[in-house]
Amino acid sequence: MKTFRIAIDGPSGAGKSTVAKAVAKRLGFLQVDTGAMYRSIGLYVYEHKKDPDDKAAVIACLPDISIDLGFSDEGQRIYLNGRDVSDDIRQNVISLYASKVSAIPEVRAFLLGMQRKVASEHDVVMDGRDIGTVILPDAELKIFQTASVKERAKRRFDELTAKGQAVSLDDIKREITERDYNDSHRAEAPCVPADDAVIIDNSNITIEENTEIIALLYEMRK
Ligand code: DC
Repeated sequence: MKTFRIAIDGPSGAGKSTVAKAVAKRLGFLQVDTGAMYRSIGLYVYEHKKDPDDKAAVIACLPDISIDLGFSDEGQRIYLNGRDVSDDIRQNVISLYASKVSAIPEVRAFLLGMQRKVASEHDVVMDGRDIGTVILPDAELKIFQTASVKERAKRRFDELTAKGQAVSLDDIKREITERDYNDSHRAEAPCVPADDAVIIDNSNITIEENTEIIALLYEMRK
């Protein structure tokens, strides 16, 4: 079966998963959030009290890890060795573990086959950092979705203060700038737009408008 693959890459805080979910719902595609896969490996490493900076220790965990995806109207669910970890992987500490394990080439290779397989069996909206460049270099539509540091910091600030956390906007801006630099300069699968990606900066548009643009691009290319 020939599938239609929409790749959405971009930095954290650019609303990729929210838009991917909306586009998938509208087109009847599966949404595949690849960040959740890195987070699940991060969770396993965390729960087994391994050091995420110890590459050999992380690689040694891989044979004991099995990840499965489930799909519902509410979006993707993710299972780590049969257990639904969709909520547990969202803890703040797991963001750090996911970021560390995602820099290990063996971890990326472990997930690559699974990501390609799902995209060969279903029409997908797959979001991540390297979908258009490494995982699906011949995707039918590639989007690189971003927003200014100022806007992404504001969104994160609003999200955390709504949860009652005391945070500083300047600290968040600094963290985002640092993470952007690391993500786009790392040796393995850096977060950069594919040459043929459509770049959408959503600093000044709504999630609905962003979704609409992708749906229109799909209509033009299908
Ligand atoms: O998008 P997210 O915050 O859930 O991603 C979690 C981590 O995984 C983040 O540090 C970036 C990394 N990641 C990656 O390296 N490649 C992907 N395709 C998706 C996520």
